[in-house]
Amino acid sequence: MAALAAPAQAEEADPGAIVALQFALGGDHKGVRASGAKGVCLKGTFAPAPDAAALSKAPQFAKTVPVTARFSMGGSNPKISDKTKATTRGFAMRLADPAGDMTFVVISAPVFGTRTPAQLLEFLQVRAPGPDGKPDAEKIKAFAARNPETGRQAAWLNARPVPASFAGTDYWAVHAYTLTNAKGERTTAKLKFVAADKASLSDEELKAKPDSFYADELKERLARGPARFDLVAILAEPNDPTTDVTATWPEDDRKQRSLGTLTIAAIEPDATCDAATFDPVVDMPDGIAGPADDPMFAIRSPAYAVSLSRRSN
Ligand code: HEM
Repeated sequence: MAALAAPAQAEEADPGAIVALQFALGGDHKGVRASGAKGVCLKGTFAPAPDAAALSKAPQFAKTVPVTARFSMGGSNPKISDKTKATTRGFAMRLADPAGDMTFVVISAPVFGTRTPAQLLEFLQVRAPGPDGKPDAEKIKAFAARNPETGRQAAWLNARPVPASFAGTDYWAVHAYTLTNAKGERTTAKLKFVAADKASLSDEELKAKPDSFYADELKERLARGPARFDLVAILAEPNDPTTDVTATWPEDDRKQRSLGTLTIAAIEPDATCDAATFDPVVDMPDGIAGPADDPMFAIRSPAYAVSLSRRSN
């Protein structure tokens, strides 16, 4: 009876509960996103590679289209330091077309922190402050021991230097996508935005930086010329996991195809990015889709909607 009366909270994995905890852990600031609260809105273009249409019939892979984008720091704290190492940098973008926008919301690591929404809820719950205002270190340790895959993202980030620029690091879409061409042929691929001008900071250089330097760096960089990323499709081989965002594929051993070049030209007013949410699940044209059977993908749409509604009120 006791087991029936007290279902594990983590199993409920309601998007509203996850988003409420995301806000709580960042300090419950008003009018900001539940993740990516600190960021910069941008505009640019996407120009497809000559062979992209052979993989996907989406209009964005047949002609150059305008882009609205946003770089951000992970988490709901709008005052997070740009020097934070074990936090992903984020990159959200909408490649516009009248037939349907193509939306990617990607991060500066090849993996996400959790494999299922229930695991994400518990990951957040164990980090919630207790009566003394601090999270319980023992709880966090016990969760990590039971869920070792949830340590992969932080380990990956901690093993690398902090990017010197939002435009100086690669970004991964993390989920496995299906590309469908005009003949109906399907290709499963992970998508990666490869920075044309990679730049990172040594520990010494990092120390000398103020807590906020990415926005100014971007202004100076874009005054000199646009920032570019190559969008690359990393093609799946049989048995590559397609529903586990904590698992990597051996990228260097996989065939890769260039899908095009994303050019960031200028900074846009925040309002352009804040009016809606970048929804990577719903806002996709025919010819490309995220994994229908990955629960971490599906829950992003309702979670982003909850955050939008809260930050707009
Ligand atoms: C699995 C891979 C995921 C990646 C790569 C990712 C990345 C990002 C990025 C970059 C942003 C900032 C967007 C912007 O600048 O507007 C963001 C926002 C957000 N993320 Fe995720 N996320 C992922 C999964 C999730 C999941 C599973 C949840 C919750 C269940 C979630 C909840 C949110 C929320 C609530 C926002 C704020 C949306 C808004 O207010 O517009 N994310 N995410």
